[in-house]
Amino acid sequence: MTDEKEAIGVIGVGWVGLVTAACFAELGHEVWGRDIVPEKVESLARGEVPIHEPGLPELVTKNAERLHFTTDMGETLEHARLLFVAVDTPPSYSGDADLSRVETVLDELGDSDRHALVMKSTVPVGTGRSIQRRRAGTGYVSNPEFLKEGSAVADFMKPDRVVVGADEGSSGFADRVAALYEPLGARILRTDVASAEMIKLASNAFLATKISFINEIANVSEELGADVLQVAEGMGLDDRIGPKFLRAGIGWGGSCFPKDVQALKQLAGNSGYHFQLLTAVIEVNELQKRRTIGKLQKHLGSLEGKEVALLGVAFKPDTDDIREATSLVLSGRLQGEGAHVRVYDPVAALRANSMLGGARICESALEAVEGADAVVLVTEWPEFGELDWTGDVKSRMRVPLVVDGRNFLDREALVEAGFTYEGIGR
Ligand code: UGA
Repeated sequence: MTDEKEAIGVIGVGWVGLVTAACFAELGHEVWGRDIVPEKVESLARGEVPIHEPGLPELVTKNAERLHFTTDMGETLEHARLLFVAVDTPPSYSGDADLSRVETVLDELGDSDRHALVMKSTVPVGTGRSIQRRRAGTGYVSNPEFLKEGSAVADFMKPDRVVVGADEGSSGFADRVAALYEPLGARILRTDVASAEMIKLASNAFLATKISFINEIANVSEELGADVLQVAEGMGLDDRIGPKFLRAGIGWGGSCFPKDVQALKQLAGNSGYHFQLLTAVIEVNELQKRRTIGKLQKHLGSLEGKEVALLGVAFKPDTDDIREATSLVLSGRLQGEGAHVRVYDPVAALRANSMLGGARICESALEAVEGADAVVLVTEWPEFGELDWTGDVKSRMRVPLVVDGRNFLDREALVEAGFTYEGIGR
């Protein structure tokens, strides 16, 4: 094991870049975080973290001496030797990843050959090979991230595995990158670059497939009278299946799964292969997001003029990320059916305001449920579990109907108190 300290540059201090920068600083390295957004850099330099990620502000404050934030690429290149690229690669209209920000970074680097590139951004398989052709002899490593929003710091510090992909000629750089992670004690898997790129996309696609699968089992269980919670528990006890990512719900979202599943499908298509399974996985998820409408109609008939409260806007708890969140789809569909929608989220509602159409943003869950004909629990924020459902909530609602989109609430207690309860797959 080596405890040599590196001078690291992180290009792009969005969610992935900032977690990476802060964690490397925590491991004792000197880190230059570079971003093109001056306001972000200024607030980080003041020690203020502009995103909601547990544990991250503490890490940034604690390691302030080793963390330098700048908009200046020249300053970063002057100090850092290993350059982690963590700019975003959002989906383009075609579904392919948009690599324009990666291209800009490459342009800024010019023909500098002093800097080895470490790709953290999720890129299509083959990207590394083409970058290496353009920057021959400078060192290139693919080091995908497997962080989950809401537990990213813990995921970085205690990874299941670290993937370090390098081709011929870059093995010395790959050794240095691998050494950075040695203190974490995780298995470090060395692969070629294309395989490392594929591991990232295939892992996200597999997890999304696992969720879409259990969601379909849930839907069939509703028809056949089985309970998906019991089914998932029984399946998960099989070592080969495992219990994780078998929580049925109202669909997966976020900034990663939708983009990466689509990107892998598209990438396969571009190579002439029709990835049939992923096409279905995506479609199942779209339908799952909309199924709630039918559950509401089953009890309320037409939704015209009905008051529907959505609890939770973020795509999952412990994040303010609303990208591809089910709440946005539901809000639109409900209003399309003529319902009046009110929403509450502990951190994400204001951010989502413009995307929720005419939905009313509430200051509290209790305000949202006041006079409601139905409540849909969209995001399993812990505070929703602590509400006084059978007292305060029920007395405020016009009709005690709950669609529990995450199987999160105490069904028995709610039913006993007179609620009509609809879960997922029960
Ligand atoms: C996901 C992966 O889990 C990370 O490993 C990966 O690094 C990351 O994408 C990325 O590519 O950057 P994340 O999007 O933060 O992480 O969130 P997850 O916790 O994976 O949840 C994704 C979605 O699946 C959420 O909408 C969640 O509600 C849903 N989900 C998750 C379920 O519906 N059921 C489950 O059992 C698990």
